[in-house]
Amino acid sequence: MFEQFEATAPDPILKLIDLYRDDPRSGKIDVGIGVFRDANGDTPVMQAVRIAEEKLHRRQTTKTYVGLAGDEIFNDCIADLVFSHSPQRERVRAVQTPGGCGALRLLSEMLYRIADDKTIWLSDPTWGNHLPIFRQTGFGIRFYPYLDRQSKTVDVDALISKLKTLGKNDIVVFHGCCHNPSGAELQPGDWDEIAALCAKNGFLPYVDLAYQGFADSLDQDAYGVRALASAADSMVVASSCSKNFALYRDRVGCAMVLGKTHEISDITRGHVLSAARSSYSMPPDHGGALVALILSDPNLREVWEEELTGMRERMLFLRKTLRDILRRKTRSDRWDFIAKHRGMFSLLVLDEAQVEALRTDHAVYAVAGGRVNIAGLKDEAQVEQFADALVSVTS
Ligand code: LMR
Repeated sequence: MFEQFEATAPDPILKLIDLYRDDPRSGKIDVGIGVFRDANGDTPVMQAVRIAEEKLHRRQTTKTYVGLAGDEIFNDCIADLVFSHSPQRERVRAVQTPGGCGALRLLSEMLYRIADDKTIWLSDPTWGNHLPIFRQTGFGIRFYPYLDRQSKTVDVDALISKLKTLGKNDIVVFHGCCHNPSGAELQPGDWDEIAALCAKNGFLPYVDLAYQGFADSLDQDAYGVRALASAADSMVVASSCSKNFALYRDRVGCAMVLGKTHEISDITRGHVLSAARSSYSMPPDHGGALVALILSDPNLREVWEEELTGMRERMLFLRKTLRDILRRKTRSDRWDFIAKHRGMFSLLVLDEAQVEALRTDHAVYAVAGGRVNIAGLKDEAQVEQFADALVSVTS
């Protein structure tokens, strides 16, 4: 039977892991997949996670199932982290999932059951894996304008004009913060405007919040999600602990739903749970249990927040260093947008030949389109080397 298959195309982000690993050149630079690295080029286990792991090791007496929704303490902690004290918090229902992708997939399956118009709106551009996730569920994809590729800022006017045309049958996916791939951020005033449109026209906001704490602060990064929650009738949020807890391989995420009433939220959560049962059944426990321990213990939480602040500051430092070096090398402000972007990524808007030249001539691994993970740059010497490569392929 399998002879009917045609080979699948490799995932454009994941394939870079193999290409980079197999490159024998010693000065190679990986700015491909979104993984935070420290000044040694490592992605260490966070201190707060290590302490939580020791605690968990001592406390855990069984490996029996935790249940379909996962760890309810984890679910409450994540809903608090995302919605804080906003009045809508009480109507939020959460389900622990295997990573942020698990949350995206479950929410998408739940929405597909009730969506009238089986299409979903994504930002142009968006994270490469959004497309297969929503397509596999059955949704058709449409794009709303997001990035102005000339200025590398959000084209707010074009975005708002498009949103004005959407109504109650439309589902719109927003990146809560640290837009992937562009790095270009919506400002609080923009979110307020989007929330006002949502209240008026009734489209359903679907927020992918994979980088809370990586842009400005845990609270500021949730501004958009909270603004939308105050406006929307119904809303969903997929959150991830891969980056802000550095729990990448432990696959920790959370699917959240917000309905008009407590009862509607409960029923909707039931549909998320049944989507889970019919795919992987119950989520893995370990990572979620660690996050629950960290967020519910004030001392441990402080340790974590300090480490998270350190990661954020390092990314901002790398952005500014890269901007300064590029200013010096090009005697222009052409690349200044890099320091204005937030999170791990900036989309440099490079063509295929330039991305290829980065890889073949300079051993620099960037994602198609010129998405670079700023947090993948080790130290100032590597930033300099990267800047040289970029100048060489773009001049
Ligand atoms: C990325 O965008 O590089 C990360 O979110 C990792 C992934 O799975 O693509």
